[in-house]
Amino acid sequence: MSMINAALVESFDEPPRFRSIPAPEAAPGQELVDVLAVGVHPATRGIAAGKHYTSPKTLPALAGADAVVRRADGSLGYVMVMGAGTLAERIVIDPAAVIPVPDGADPALLVATMNPALSSWAALRTRVPFQAGQSVLVHGATGNAGSMAVKVAKHLGAARVIAAGRNRSRLDELTDQGADAVVQLVPDEDATTAALAEAAAEVDVVLDYVWGPPTELAMRALLGARTQHTRLLDWVQIGGMGGDAITLSGHALRSNAFRILGSGFGSVDMQVIQREFTELVAAIAAGGMAVRPYRFPLDQVEAAWAHQDAPGERTVILL
Ligand SMILES: NC(=O)c1ccc[n+]([C@@H]2O[C@H](COP(=O)([O-])OP(=O)(O)OC[C@H]3O[C@@H](n4cnc5c(N)ncnc54)[C@H](OP(=O)(O)O)[C@@H]3O)[C@@H](O)[C@H]2O)c1
Repeated sequence: MSMINAALVESFDEPPRFRSIPAPEAAPGQELVDVLAVGVHPATRGIAAGKHYTSPKTLPALAGADAVVRRADGSLGYVMVMGAGTLAERIVIDPAAVIPVPDGADPALLVATMNPALSSWAALRTRVPFQAGQSVLVHGATGNAGSMAVKVAKHLGAARVIAAGRNRSRLDELTDQGADAVVQLVPDEDATTAALAEAAAEVDVVLDYVWGPPTELAMRALLGARTQHTRLLDWVQIGGMGGDAITLSGHALRSNAFRILGSGFGSVDMQVIQREFTELVAAIAAGGMAVRPYRFPLDQVEAAWAHQDAPGERTVILL
């Protein structure tokens, strides 16, 4: 039996392990591809820890949720296989789900950037009626996905983008990278409320990477300061760095044209994702939107899991 190297989740309490497994074989309609680079994103870690809605039901299971792959014809592609695993030298995929990657693109940079960037791209292009010229608040803008959201919103034509986050130096960098205003989220709730109200009360869309109690405060701040109550405010839940639940008064919902919706795997049709992400891959490959890859070889998967990304960096495993 031919064997390949892989990283297996054997326990939700431990990092994936470097293992030798039987080489996969493609069933009719499937395609066997070589894996070049896999991103270690918050979702990838959450899946491997049993904490994500696509976590495997049985172990051992292949780690990894996305990959840049080389196809049989030599071309590159980007795949997302939430829950099915990508951290092996070869995997089988659905050929219809491959997003083409232009020749010459750096697989590590692309896989580092796609997951953070796609969250805001999918939200603005498929979940809300966002139009060029509108204004966007990115709540939790100092992480990789939030920082990319500032750039993506600008790329898609936002007239005004407000970046809110905790890390002052990262906020200053975001000003240099296109944010029109920044709000520092500080422990003093009154100060945060006043700053959010002043900078973002009239936004059209909030892209929210935080959720939990900080979002309860931000919603109160914006809705309390909004002057045009019938102007639509779409609040898109994308990440949960501050918690997975909020408490919301019914009054908030009925006293404003206020909608809450989520954006993630499961909320967007795969055919739409395919079309949108082909455009996003091309935009990343063209430059201007990049998360710095921090590279590990596959046999150091445990060290990769232990590595904590610096701001603007994403752990990537090369195969
Ligand atoms: N739905 C989707 O399609 C999708 C796609 C990609 C990512 N996501 C989600 O988006 C979230 C962020 O992902 P990422 O790739 O940006 O991760 P990341 O690079 O690790 O950034 C996370 C950032 O969150 C900030 N943060 C943590 N707790 C916070 C709090 N209480 N208030 C404000 N900021 C807080 C931290 O910034 P500071 O320490 O600087 O404050 C941290 O750097 C994750 O929950 C991820 O699963 C969703």
